[in-house]
Amino acid sequence: MNLHTSSIADLPGAASSILKHAGTNRILLFYGDMGAGKTTLIKILCEQLGVIDAVTSPTFSIVNEYAGTEEPVFHFDFYRLSNPTEALDMGYEEYFNSGNYCFIEWPEKIASLIPHQYTSIRIAVIDEESRQITVENI
Ligand SMILES: Nc1ncnc2c1ncn2[C@@H]1O[C@H](COP(=O)(O)OP(=O)(O)O)[C@@H](O)[C@H]1O
Ligand SMILES: [Mg+2]
Repeated sequence: MNLHTSSIADLPGAASSILKHAGTNRILLFYGDMGAGKTTLIKILCEQLGVIDAVTSPTFSIVNEYAGTEEPVFHFDFYRLSNPTEALDMGYEEYFNSGNYCFIEWPEKIASLIPHQYTSIRIAVIDEESRQITVENI
């Protein structure tokens, strides 16, 4: 599925399409350059899932857990990971197997650990305001 957003105002519509497209997939991988809008999109996805906690990039903790929904939502940022062993150490597998939503920034850093079934979301910057978002169930 291809989505085009002309401004941040288009993101809620894109987010609900993404959740619908992902269906029962709970592992969502977000690809895109620094500043593409991964965290911003995840923030809106979380809002739509009923998260009431503040959604911020878990840069230093690797994973944030958000409440406010019936089940927790997990938000990962693997940007600073220097070795996949660090993902093993923080117990990534338990989160991925929890059946709860896992929103993952910089999945490239844990390429060998990605589950078989997931939804990939690729954000390409067209210009300062607009983005091309490609969503694919794998
Ligand atoms: N879809 C979008 N359209 C226009 N601007 C955006 C969009 N998403 C994010 N931005 C802007 O880009 C900046 C960086 O976004 P961020 O979500 O932190 O990127 P990333 O997590 O990919 O590094 C933010 O200040 C935000 O205002
Ligand atoms: Mg980010």
